[in-house]
Amino acid sequence: MRKAVYPGSFDPVTYGHIDIIKRAALIFDDLVVSVLDNKAKSPLFSVDERVNILKEVCAPFPNVKIDSFSGLLIDYAKENNIHVSVRGLRAITDFEYELQIAQTNKLLSQGTLDTIFLTTSLEYSYLSSSGVKEIAAFGGDISKCVPDFVADKIYAKYDIKR
Ligand code: PNS
Repeated sequence: MRKAVYPGSFDPVTYGHIDIIKRAALIFDDLVVSVLDNKAKSPLFSVDERVNILKEVCAPFPNVKIDSFSGLLIDYAKENNIHVSVRGLRAITDFEYELQIAQTNKLLSQGTLDTIFLTTSLEYSYLSSSGVKEIAAFGGDISKCVPDFVADKIYAKYDIKR
């Protein structure tokens, strides 16, 4: 049974994340998309909101489960008997950050948690959750960035009527 975790903040999930989820779900038998509960950040959406959004987005993929975690990814992976973490790479600017996380996880887990990178599809290489939030906060069009029901929830957070 090939099992993997796709960890992230997903605040909010974008078409870029969804593209990675779809492709990873074809590679692995079981994919757990897990939302990091990061007490150090003040997210737009609570962990429960992000989990519920992801559940709706991932409903068409039967081998994808949604979960959340706090603390170290290696501990979460160990508790869930997962040995692969999936991450998306958009551009060279992501590489250093991602390489650092991957190497740290490999070292801390004593080699039991490896990372697989999927290159983001070109049409989403510009997309980031923070960019989406900034555009939405100024009332801009995010229809090419996130599904409509997610866009509605983002605009509602900023009290923007569209
Ligand atoms: O979507 P993000 O914010 O880029 O995801 C980052 C994430 C969740 C993959 C990373 O911050 C993480 O795994 N944090 C959990 C804490 C941890 O394990 N840190 C050690 C590796 S640097």
